[in-house]
Amino acid sequence: MKETLYLAENEEETKNLGLQFAEHLKPGFVIGLIGDLGAGKTTFAKAVAEGLGIEDTVTSPTFTIIKEYYDGRLPFYHFDVYRLKSTEEIINLGCEEYFYGEGVTVIEWADKILDLLPEDAIIVEFKSTDNKDERLIMIKGIKL
Ligand SMILES: Nc1ncnc2c1ncn2[C@@H]1O[C@H](COP(=O)(O)OP(=O)(O)O)[C@@H](O)[C@H]1O
Ligand SMILES: [Mg+2]
Repeated sequence: MKETLYLAENEEETKNLGLQFAEHLKPGFVIGLIGDLGAGKTTFAKAVAEGLGIEDTVTSPTFTIIKEYYDGRLPFYHFDVYRLKSTEEIINLGCEEYFYGEGVTVIEWADKILDLLPEDAIIVEFKSTDNKDERLIMIKGIKL
């Protein structure tokens, strides 16, 4: 599996990585984001949306679990599964229709539903460091 580790020294660098990442996306790609609260998952997801050319305002789908955007180069499905109580709940929301559809799915807190992700899902893991604005970002499954 291809794994690449990046050091984002500030929020801007995380955004730039998301923008660059978006250029590689194709229909049906599923991207699982893993990292603690404040690690940068939403920041990255928003940059991916921007990179896909989405101009609608992308906000964290914490309460709705899924938000869909159709004004970019590819359909963009933004999941936040933090509040899920069971995997059944996300199955009932039709997650497989999204994962195996023509759009790109980005899932925050993907570690909660790892077993449901397609085998070829890309994983992006965010870790904070001792430096407030620094993040270690590991991308597994695709080489930028
Ligand atoms: N290098 C960095 N990358 C991403 N966010 C950063 C970075 N440095 C500081 N931050 C801050 O950390 C927070 C990340 O929030 P957010 O993206 O919502 O995290 P999450 O969705 O993982 O909970 C934001 O307030 C952002 O300004
Ligand atoms: Mg978030």
